[in-house]
Amino acid sequence: MTKLADIDWDNLGFNYIKTDFRYISTWKDGKWDKGQLVTDNKLLISEASTALHYGQQCFEGLKAYRTANGNIQLFRPYENAKRLNLGARRLLMPEIPEEKFVDAVLQVVRANEGYVPPYGTGATLYIRPLLIGVGDNIGVGAAPEYLFSVFCVPVGPYFKGGMTPVNFTVSDFDRAAPYGTGAAKVGGNYAASLYSYHLAKKGGFGDCIYLDPLTHTKIEEVGSANFFGITWDNEFVTPKSPSILPSITKYSLLYLAKEYMGLKTAERDVCIDNLQEFKEAGACGTAAVITPIGGIHYKDKLHVFYSETEVGPITTKLYNTLCGIQFGNLEAPTGWII
Ligand code: COI
Repeated sequence: MTKLADIDWDNLGFNYIKTDFRYISTWKDGKWDKGQLVTDNKLLISEASTALHYGQQCFEGLKAYRTANGNIQLFRPYENAKRLNLGARRLLMPEIPEEKFVDAVLQVVRANEGYVPPYGTGATLYIRPLLIGVGDNIGVGAAPEYLFSVFCVPVGPYFKGGMTPVNFTVSDFDRAAPYGTGAAKVGGNYAASLYSYHLAKKGGFGDCIYLDPLTHTKIEEVGSANFFGITWDNEFVTPKSPSILPSITKYSLLYLAKEYMGLKTAERDVCIDNLQEFKEAGACGTAAVITPIGGIHYKDKLHVFYSETEVGPITTKLYNTLCGIQFGNLEAPTGWII
């Protein structure tokens, strides 16, 4: 077990470290209990839990940030609460009241305050809420009981190097189906991505790009993050599709690009055969923050955007604007920071 004093804040990766407290609440007989903080990191559940057999579960990812004056802030946690409930509805699980969700997150962050990395390291406290179906159930059907847990882990960059360009290849496999669960943050989507990820890594890439499952002509996702491109006439473009996970970072960037940087913005189809329309490209998400895309490998060719080693000026400005808000150095739009 890593002790707090042993953490090298400047060199954190995206790895699990057990912190001191997590929150757990149970849904039984039609209602959620009050929930409590506990110190262990184990779940004791029935072998017949639907989460184990039928993937009846969803999760979230958000972060707590240490500001220059030592305060701790959350970025748009109500958006995570809404998205978790989207997954809950899709998989026939009970919703978590938004206030309960945010209260649980606040309790966990306060209880683990010492694990929020110091300002200036770029590291953050990653918070992982999880909703799972549990209890005795063998037929395919919704679980009789549910657990909502929230734990947290101090993390550094998701992709090694952070704000340095990463190359991606294009997967032959899909992570989601056209009217499937792609837009819900459910474990099954990530299970479906593991083999493609493995192949991409084996080929020397950071991860892979998923194309739309119906025609395999349009970009949907970049590994576990969303895609954006900057056109030659400075438009911030991100794909639109019902099977993309609605990234809170992506929607924040759409707003910031327009309102803080004066860029045009669009959510529309992005064709894999038309990458030359972009001068810069990136992956965005809570874990990935903004990861510049050096190049995309497709049909035996590597299409390089701005550079394989340097970050483009618009991507840099987007990153500085987003992180400026998240770490408390820039004024945030109303309601974004708690
Ligand atoms: C996130 O960006 O929060 C994610 O959930 C990505 C991944 C680590 C699953």
